[in-house]
Amino acid sequence: MDFAPPYARRGLEHDPQWYRRAVFYEVMVRSFADTNSDGIGDIPGLISKLDYLEWLGVDALWLPPFYSSPLLDGGYDVANFMTVLPEFGTIDDFQELVSQAHARNMRIVMDLPLNHTSDQHHWFQESRTNPSGPYGDYYVWSDTDEIRQHIRIIFSDTEDSNWAFDSERRQFYFHRFFSHQPDLNYHNPAVHSEMHDIARFWLGMGVDGFRLDAIPYLYESDEGTGESEPETHEFLRTFRSFLDTEFPGRVLIAEANQWPSETAEYLGTEETPECHMAFDFPIMPRIFYALRSQQAEPLQMVLAETVDIPPGTAWGVFLRNHDELTLEMVSEEERQALYGWYAYDPRMRVNVGIRRRLAPLLDNSRQELQLAHALLLSLPGSPFLYYGDEIGMGDNIWLEDRDSSRTPMQWSPDRNAGFSDADPGKLYLPVVQSLAFHYSSSNVETQLAQGTSLLHWVRNLIHLRKEHPVFGVGPLTVVSSDNPSVVAFVRDMPIEECKPGESPETLLCVYSFAHQPLSVTLSLPESFRANRVTEITGGGRFPSPNEQGQLVLTLPPQSFYWLSLAGIKASVA
Ligand code: GLC
Ligand code: CA
Repeated sequence: MDFAPPYARRGLEHDPQWYRRAVFYEVMVRSFADTNSDGIGDIPGLISKLDYLEWLGVDALWLPPFYSSPLLDGGYDVANFMTVLPEFGTIDDFQELVSQAHARNMRIVMDLPLNHTSDQHHWFQESRTNPSGPYGDYYVWSDTDEIRQHIRIIFSDTEDSNWAFDSERRQFYFHRFFSHQPDLNYHNPAVHSEMHDIARFWLGMGVDGFRLDAIPYLYESDEGTGESEPETHEFLRTFRSFLDTEFPGRVLIAEANQWPSETAEYLGTEETPECHMAFDFPIMPRIFYALRSQQAEPLQMVLAETVDIPPGTAWGVFLRNHDELTLEMVSEEERQALYGWYAYDPRMRVNVGIRRRLAPLLDNSRQELQLAHALLLSLPGSPFLYYGDEIGMGDNIWLEDRDSSRTPMQWSPDRNAGFSDADPGKLYLPVVQSLAFHYSSSNVETQLAQGTSLLHWVRNLIHLRKEHPVFGVGPLTVVSSDNPSVVAFVRDMPIEECKPGESPETLLCVYSFAHQPLSVTLSLPESFRANRVTEITGGGRFPSPNEQGQLVLTLPPQSFYWLSLAGIKASVA
C-alpha cells in the first residue's frame, strides 16, 4: 500500500497549532491489547482500540518506544531505530496505525530517545570492537572514570557511577541512565545526521511529532553539569529548523525534568524556536501535595510564577506517566511529606520518586480523582492522560522498578482482563488482582455499563474541556482567595486565538483541597468583574461579584467549580 505522506495524513483537520488544544493519551503498545495471543500487546491491538480512544475524546497518542530493543528499560534502550520490535508488529502495522488514527483526526506522537542507545545497538557493538572504525566515535569514551564525577546520577537506585568499563575496548563509556544504555557522543556530527535520518524515516510515514526523551542530557562537558548545556540547545534549534523545512506542522515535545524557567528554554524563542511543547514537571507534585496538606499555596505559587513562553508553544501537563512520580522538583521538606503520604511502604519508592498509579495514590477516592482530573484538564497547556487512569486502574508494587504501573490494560472481567487470550502465565506482566483494584471490577466494560463510573465522568469532562478551547489557549491569571485551601484562577480567551465561529470566553476555575466544606471570598481583578456567573456543566446561575469584585462561594470537600464569567465589559463601564 502506498503510505506516502499525503495518503497517511488524509483525514486530519488542518490546524498547524493542533497540539495547543489537544488532549493527549500516553499508551504503551506492549500494555494495551494483544491480538496474537503471545501475551504481549501489539500494534494491531492498539488499532483495534482506536474507536475506544476516539470515544473517550483523545486527540493524540503518545507512544513510548516500540523500536527493536532488549526491553531492559521499557524500550528506551533502543537496539535499532528503523525497525519495530517484532513482538509489537511490523512497519506495515505501524503505517496502518497512522492512517487509521488520522482517519479519526487523531495524531500520533512517538518517543525519540536521542541521548543513548542500548548496548545491543550495532553502533555500540562496532564502537567497542573497532575504535578506529566508522562508529568508533559514536559514544563517549574515556581512559579514566575520574572525570565528570560531579554529574549527578539519575538512576540512583541501580547505578553508582555514570561511567562503565568496557572489557573489549578497555575504556570507560559514559551513561546517564542504566549502564546498558551508553550515551551517544553529540560532539560527533555523524550522530546528528543519523538522528536526522531516523526522524525523516518516521516523519515520512506520517508521524505527527516526537517526544524528545531525556533531552537535557545530550551534551556533557568536563566543567558542566551535563544538563542543558549550550550545545544541546544549539542541536535542538537545528533539529527544529530541519523539521520546519522538511515536515512543517509536526511537533517536538521536550521531556526536561527541570525548573520552569530552565524547561521553558527548551521552547526557544520566537526567532530561534526549539520545541513546540515541554512537559511541566514542577506543577504535578504540587497537586499531590495540595490534596493531602489541604494547603493551596505551593500550587498557587507555581501557577503565579508563570514563565512567559513564546507564542505558539504550550506546556504538557500530566498527573502520572510510565515513569515514577518524580519528586526532583520539590523542596526536601515537601519531598519528605509526599513520601510520608504516598509512599509509606519503601517498596513504593524508586530513585527520587514514587512508582504508583494515580488511583492507588489517591486511595481510590472518587472526590480526589475528580479534583485531580479537573485540574489536569484546566491548567495551562495540554493534558496528557496515562492509559488506564481513566478507569482508576491499580498498580502492583511487587513488580520491579517502574513495571509496577505498566501492567496490562483492563478491558473486561474476562480472562487476563480482556487484554489477551494467552495463558495467564505468559503475559508480559500479570494483570492487577489486588483487593481494591481487581480487574474483575476495575475494567472498561464494567465501567461502560455504569453511567456514574469514573470512566464516564472523565470522558464527560474531556468533552466539556474540548467545548471550551480557552482551556487550551487562554492565558491564566491567579485570583486571590481568603481561604488557604483554595486555588482559583481565570482562563481568558484572547480574540486573536479564536478560530472562525468561536467567540472569546472567560472562565473562573475554583478548587477546594479542604477535607471539609468551606466558604471562600475571591477577589476578582477589575477586568474580570462579571455581572453574570454561570456554572458550565449545568448552566446554573451563581451569585455575581460585588462592586469591589468580591465573590463569595461555598464548596463541598475536595471539589471544584468551572464558572463562566459574562457581561464583564458592562460591569467595568
Ligand atoms: C526517560 C524515560 C524513562 C527512561 C529514561 C532513560 O526519562 O521516560 O522511562 O527510563 O528516559 O531512557
Ligand atoms: Ca501480541
